[in-house]
Amino acid sequence: MGRDVIVACDFASKEQVFSFLDKFTERKPFVKIGMELFYAEGPEIVREIKKRGHKIFLDLKLHDIPNTVKKSMAVLSNLDVDICNLHAAGTKRMMEAALEGLTRPDGTRPLLIAVTQLTSTDQESMENDLLIKEPIDKVVMHYAKCAAEAGLDGVVCSPLEAEKVHNLCGKEFLTVTPGVRFADGDIGDQKRVMTPAQAKEIGSDYIVVGRPITAAEDVVAAYNRCVAEFCD
Ligand code: C5P
Repeated sequence: MGRDVIVACDFASKEQVFSFLDKFTERKPFVKIGMELFYAEGPEIVREIKKRGHKIFLDLKLHDIPNTVKKSMAVLSNLDVDICNLHAAGTKRMMEAALEGLTRPDGTRPLLIAVTQLTSTDQESMENDLLIKEPIDKVVMHYAKCAAEAGLDGVVCSPLEAEKVHNLCGKEFLTVTPGVRFADGDIGDQKRVMTPAQAKEIGSDYIVVGRPITAAEDVVAAYNRCVAEFCD
């Protein structure tokens, strides 16, 4: 898979997501399904969106004991998604177990990427709540390295970290980056943002874009603008 724009479909119901997706009559966007929609509608929503011809990043961020993650990943693999994810904090052993669970009898599997430190975690909360005293960027890079060593395909990271991740883990190691805004757009609650063109420049493999597309007046035009800036 080459560079692509993944649309974060952060909707609460099937009706809302379908009325959004119905607007795309030409290019079918790569779709991110998160916990909100998955917990509201169950696995059927994944099958239905897949049936409509979309690639799917199932963003459920698994984190549990290796055996539980392995078995859960096998279930997600059967849903025929294209990308799924977990928390690198679950350890290398958990990530390796996840890969085993994800691999189908014929040897194929969805891509598996890791969340390093959530962008909602800052140095202070990491030190006080998690008792991790190292600088946060060092922790992020260490988690990325662990994910690569466990055999994962990439990480979710800030576009500002993408270049460093590639330098550390290799060019082939995927960087999937949220926090994308148009140069003339509203940044909302994202703190560190980049435009799709800048994300392309620094080497992001996939950008995850939510509100700049889902809340736009013309959602298809906003998506096409992202594609033009990032993919072409
Ligand atoms: O609407 P917006 O473009 O900010 O949406 C970004 C998407 O990426 C949301 O689904 C959000 O949960 C997700 N995300 C993020 N930052 C992270 C990890 C995921 O914004 N570090």
